[in-house]
Amino acid sequence: MKYALAFALLSFSLSLSTPVGAQTPAQGKALFLMRCASCHVPPDAPVQATRVGPSLRGVVGRKSGTLATFPRYTRAMKAYGQVWTPAALDRYLNAPQQVVKGTAMSFPGLKKPQERASVIAYLKANSTR
Ligand code: HEC
Repeated sequence: MKYALAFALLSFSLSLSTPVGAQTPAQGKALFLMRCASCHVPPDAPVQATRVGPSLRGVVGRKSGTLATFPRYTRAMKAYGQVWTPAALDRYLNAPQQVVKGTAMSFPGLKKPQERASVIAYLKANSTR
């Protein structure tokens, strides 16, 4: 009986520490694989690896359009000239083509704030070069 109670308390406190809807890198990874990985290698792959889009390794804190190993940035992305902070990424990922007019990233955007936060948390967790 005592053990059952201890177990119940333990699982209760575990569920408190991971509330439903939390933005975790793990949720972000799942979203990344579904929504971004067709065009971007995962951020823990070598930074020079390229699909149609640039590697996002180290993207948090990087200036837009400046990854030296990616040869195909549009003029629009280079001219955008913003550092990809979490806030800047949140704006961009909501509506890429409205925020960077003329970008070649043909992606309609992640409309749910929580999904953007999860993906950004995942990119951030993998942003060491
Ligand atoms: C259909 C292909 C495609 C999809 C899907 C896509 N991207 Fe992109 N992405 C690109 C391309 C191409 C570029 C380069 C754009 C340019 O130069 O205008 C880019 C650029 C970016 C940049 C700017 C990188 C830099 O170095 O300045 C970020 C950040 C980014 N994408 C994040 C994402 C995330 C996160 C997702 C998923 C939610 C995603 N992209 C989905 C093709 C895609």
